[in-house]
Amino acid sequence: MVTIEPQLKLRGRLQVPGDKSISHRAAIIGALAHGMTEVEGFLRARDPLQTLACLTSLGVRWENRGENRLIIEGRGFDGLREPKVVLDAGNSGTTIRLLMGVLAGTDFFSVLTGDASLRRRPMGRVAEPLKEMGARVFGRAQGQYAPVAIVGSPLRGIEYRLPVASAQVKSALLLAGLRAEGETVVVEPGPSRDHTERMLSAFGAEVDRKGRRVAVRGLARLEGQRIVIPGDISSAAFLMVAACIRPRSDLIIEGVGVNPTRAGVIRALRAMGARIEVENERNFGPEPVADLRVGTSDLHGTKIDPALVPTLIDEIPALAVAACYASGRTVVRGAGELKVKETNRIEALAAELGRMGACITPLPDGLVIEGGRELTGARCSSRGDHRMAMALAVAALGARGPTTIVDGECVDVSFPGFYQAFQGLVRP
Ligand code: S3P
Repeated sequence: MVTIEPQLKLRGRLQVPGDKSISHRAAIIGALAHGMTEVEGFLRARDPLQTLACLTSLGVRWENRGENRLIIEGRGFDGLREPKVVLDAGNSGTTIRLLMGVLAGTDFFSVLTGDASLRRRPMGRVAEPLKEMGARVFGRAQGQYAPVAIVGSPLRGIEYRLPVASAQVKSALLLAGLRAEGETVVVEPGPSRDHTERMLSAFGAEVDRKGRRVAVRGLARLEGQRIVIPGDISSAAFLMVAACIRPRSDLIIEGVGVNPTRAGVIRALRAMGARIEVENERNFGPEPVADLRVGTSDLHGTKIDPALVPTLIDEIPALAVAACYASGRTVVRGAGELKVKETNRIEALAAELGRMGACITPLPDGLVIEGGRELTGARCSSRGDHRMAMALAVAALGARGPTTIVDGECVDVSFPGFYQAFQGLVRP
């Protein structure tokens, strides 16, 4: 349980931990490459560590070098070994879905599972197209849910139209495509995060992107690389919102990934009147980064363009808090995917922020938030969802009286040290 007292302002300069999505990909793609991959800024949080543990069970060798560096000894797809244990993805959708893609084209048997939350999340969206490629994938409820068993099989490239914009499904297919005969083509309905495509190109795969169409050529040889992981904009988003809503705040968050398929939160917050400056833009390998300067802002409600939703899907909990402190109404539509995240975030945001007095109406595909109500500290639950915990902590800053977050510790899934980082920025 974590208790948050209301705070006046946040000031200072900091870096947030490494990007979670990119950390998973660095570990997996590094393992599939030949030679050493050196990763600087790898996120040592529960989710990516779960990916590393699965890779260990697959015979991959890696070591920590210093606090911040990870070395992966890649030995190609053929270096993977049949695991003697069930691979446990814990709470991590990215771990299980990307590894399904990797394991489909091996020549061995493997089983993947996860915690209670992950075992409720849909896996059929990955299993179905993999089966079209020739994979043999089994799971509970006709392959819909984990545990998932995979009998590695020869794969052939397909052209697949994603029914929902999902980077995890797209990435699973591209990783399977590396091992498939011919070309694997994924057509997206909207712009989901493209870290896999960028990283695969950097490792020497033939990746061709044209608009919403991504193609990868099979049987590619990847070469180990040096990677620097940007700060996670999904972690930064909570601090950005905190700075916006508290008077006389001024934060500089350094080295944050601003890949346009991820940075929708900056556009959405600016549309709400947020003062955000994007400074010192540069690249960490294939990924753009910048320093973000955020100050106290007079926020007003907005209608988030559904076309932008895939670029800010993980930031909707943070945006919902911003909307509670904005004047007027904020509408989020086209975000039905929130129902199948670590928890049903539509329902959880409405109910848990509701306990503090927020006025949020859940919709089948989003939320309507009536801003400008005074929030009161309350006893809330993260429901085991790291981003719910951080959203509640930020909401608590401007509430009357303290807020208790049951299972607030789950922030360590993506942002270990979140509460300490937060505390370090608070000024009386
Ligand atoms: C992720 C993709 C998104 C996102 C998740 C991380 C990734 O999920 O919500 O937190 O690393 O590829 P979907 O692929 O289900 O949209």
